[in-house]
Amino acid sequence: MSIEVKDLKYIYSPDMPGETTALDGVSFDVTEPSVIGIIGQTGSGKSTLLQHLNGLIKPTSGEIYIDGECITGEKKNLTDVRRKIGLVFQYPEYQLFEETVAKDVAFGPKNLGADEEDIDRRVRHALELVGLDYDEVAEMSPFELSGGMKRRAAIAGVLAMEPSILMLDEPMAGLDPQAHRDMLGLIKRVQQEMNSIILFVSHNMGDVAELSDRLLVMNKGRIVMDDGPHEIFKRRDELSDMGLSVPPIAEIAQKISDKHKDFESNPLTIGELADDIKEYRKTNR
Ligand SMILES: Nc1ncnc2c1ncn2[C@@H]1O[C@H](COP(=O)(O)OP(=O)(O)O)[C@@H](O)[C@H]1O
Ligand SMILES: [Mg+2]
Repeated sequence: MSIEVKDLKYIYSPDMPGETTALDGVSFDVTEPSVIGIIGQTGSGKSTLLQHLNGLIKPTSGEIYIDGECITGEKKNLTDVRRKIGLVFQYPEYQLFEETVAKDVAFGPKNLGADEEDIDRRVRHALELVGLDYDEVAEMSPFELSGGMKRRAAIAGVLAMEPSILMLDEPMAGLDPQAHRDMLGLIKRVQQEMNSIILFVSHNMGDVAELSDRLLVMNKGRIVMDDGPHEIFKRRDELSDMGLSVPPIAEIAQKISDKHKDFESNPLTIGELADDIKEYRKTNR
C-alpha cells in the first residue's frame, strides 16, 4: 500500500474573480502502514488535498500514484480508487439518509455489487469497528442516534467499503468529551485492524500527538513540515508563526523549563513528561 504525491497544484475558479491557489508544489510519499496527521490553519489546503487523493478533484498539475498506479491521468476510471481510498468528510453525519442504520452502512457495498451475505458481513464488521452494537442500532433510524453515534455510523459506511487507505477530515470536530474519546479509540482500533494508511486532519494538537506516527504541516497550500510529531512539536515558534499550537502537555513541559532552566523535555504524552521529570530528579538531587 503506497501513496505518492508529486508536485500537486490546484487552483479553484481559474481566471475568475475568485481565483484561489489552494495547493502548490505539494509532494510527499507514504510507503508503510502508519497514521499521518495533517495540521494547518483553516484555508491551508488540507481538505482540498484529501479530495485529490480519492479522485474527487483533479489537480491543475502534478500527479498522484496509489500503489504505483497513476490516478490523475486522463479519463481515469475512478471507481476503483474510491473503493480503495475511503474519505470521511467533515461532519459526515449530515450525509446519513437511509431509513435504518444498517441500510445506510450497506449503501456503499451494495453499490459495489456485493451479494446479500457479503453486505451483511461488511455491515456487522464495520459497526463493530466503530463501536456500535449491531443488534441495538441496525434497525434504528440514523436520526435517533446521538451526535457521536451518528458520526460513527457514517464512518462505518465508509469502512464497509473495506478501503485500504482511510482518510478522515476533522473527525473530532464538534464532539462532546465522551464522543471525542470514543473517536480516538475508533481511529486506534481501525489502525490496528487495518494495519494500513490512515490520514486524518485535526486542529486538536493533543489528538494529533497521541495518534500520529508522522505529521504533515500545511501552510498556504504547501507542505512546510513533514516529520515525526516529536520533531515537529519542537518547532513551536515556527508553528506559532503559522497560527498553530503545540499539545497541552508540551505547554506544561515548557512552563516547567521556564522555572527550571536545565529541565529539558519534549513530550507528546503525560507518560513521557513523567519519565523526563523522574530522570531530571535523579540527576538533580
Ligand atoms: N469550493 C471552493 N471554491 C473556491 N475556493 C475554495 C473552495 N474550497 C476551498 N477553497 C479555498 O481553497 C483554499 C483551501 O481550502 P481548504 O482545502 O478547504 O482548506 P482547509 O481544509 O485547510 O481549511 C482556501 O483559500 C479556500 O477558501
Ligand atoms: Mg478543511
